[in-house]
Amino acid sequence: MKFVAGLTCHLCGATYPPKASWVCSDCLGPLEVTYDYEAVRKVISRELIESRPRSLWRYMELLPVNEPRTGFYSGFTPLVRATRLAEALGVAELYIKDDSVNHPTFSYKDRVVSVAATKAVELGFPVFGCASTGNLAGSVAAHAARLGLQCYVFIPHNLEPAKILGAAIYRPHVVAVEGNYDDVNRLCTQIADRYGWGFANINLRSYYAEGAKTMGFEIAEQLGWRYPDHIVSPVAGGTLLPRIFKGLREFSEVGLVEGPLPRIHAAQPEGSAPVIRALEAGLEFPDPVKPDTIAKSLAIGNPADGFQVVKVVKETGGSGAMVSDDEILDAIGLLACTEGIFTEPAGGTTLAATRALVRRGVIKSNESVVVCITGNGYKTAEVMADRVEQPVRIGRALSDFERVVAPQGVTA
Ligand SMILES: Cc1ncc(COP(=O)(O)O)c(C=O)c1O
Ligand SMILES: [Zn+2]
Repeated sequence: MKFVAGLTCHLCGATYPPKASWVCSDCLGPLEVTYDYEAVRKVISRELIESRPRSLWRYMELLPVNEPRTGFYSGFTPLVRATRLAEALGVAELYIKDDSVNHPTFSYKDRVVSVAATKAVELGFPVFGCASTGNLAGSVAAHAARLGLQCYVFIPHNLEPAKILGAAIYRPHVVAVEGNYDDVNRLCTQIADRYGWGFANINLRSYYAEGAKTMGFEIAEQLGWRYPDHIVSPVAGGTLLPRIFKGLREFSEVGLVEGPLPRIHAAQPEGSAPVIRALEAGLEFPDPVKPDTIAKSLAIGNPADGFQVVKVVKETGGSGAMVSDDEILDAIGLLACTEGIFTEPAGGTTLAATRALVRRGVIKSNESVVVCITGNGYKTAEVMADRVEQPVRIGRALSDFERVVAPQGVTA
């Protein structure tokens, strides 16, 4: 908090002291944390950051908390140089930012929740909760458990079973709402107002969003303190994509990285693509849609930060790509068999969109690209059931192996 200047409205520029509010009382625009960058510049250095533990808290000066309370192993996920995948796509330099192995709940949400949960404790909320498409519920429940916070997570009733169990295991109150995510979000906004609970992505949203910046910080640090030419990010509520950009801009501002900022591209499933449709139609504010896609974690029809995504994509010279459920499943398979990484449909969406952008010539074959893989395939394994081969079943003898498997082309 030492370097936090305050909260600034994204729409009208009004400024507020840093306390738990997320909308501007003048215009209802979203509030964003701002810092005293001159002061940060004086104390921060690459060496200082590199000397710290490998978690998102290594960027402490640019995060809005006094003292981290959770997330000591969250963030600092691998940036994998993906040479086989690069070859399959036809690009020179491709990296996977692999949040499918984030700690402790295997998605990018562990970043945003580490900051929001710490802030919930700092601000003294009696209950910590969220409105979720699945991954956020698991992360909120896990961090609440280790902090001993009372926890309520709200989800649409039709989520994947492993996502529900993956939240319920931490013993929060799980509330399955008969409606889609946008209905859940509306209800939670009313509950936050009436009961004064802290919702990670509603009234704690300004802080939650700051956690997402760390994905941008890490990409630059792990590339050797430089920026790639392109970054492709999934979009649901629209937190991640603009905050990756905010992180990079802050790194430039405090003197940690030089050079041009990357072009940032948005990936959405065709069945829930309000932002891509807005980009194509030249709209500043996306029109809401009714989601229908296999990528349930991206099924948000009315994204809270949609207009920020549109703005950042345009500002950086990026584009958007929407992809079909079939392309999403193909991409999950491709990532698995080229790089040994199993992602969920959100990751399939991002990779399929990257593929489309390469085909369109937006990402050129001699350029560098980072693909943000934000969730883990083991939570949604059933979506791939028809796309994997059944095991070859044999008896226990060597002769069984030789009769059935060896003729398929095994060499001794
Ligand atoms: C795996 C995964 N990736 C990406 C997103 C999209 O994030 P955002 O809401 O920040 O756009 C989500 C959000 O629900 C998610 O669960
Ligand atoms: Zn305002």
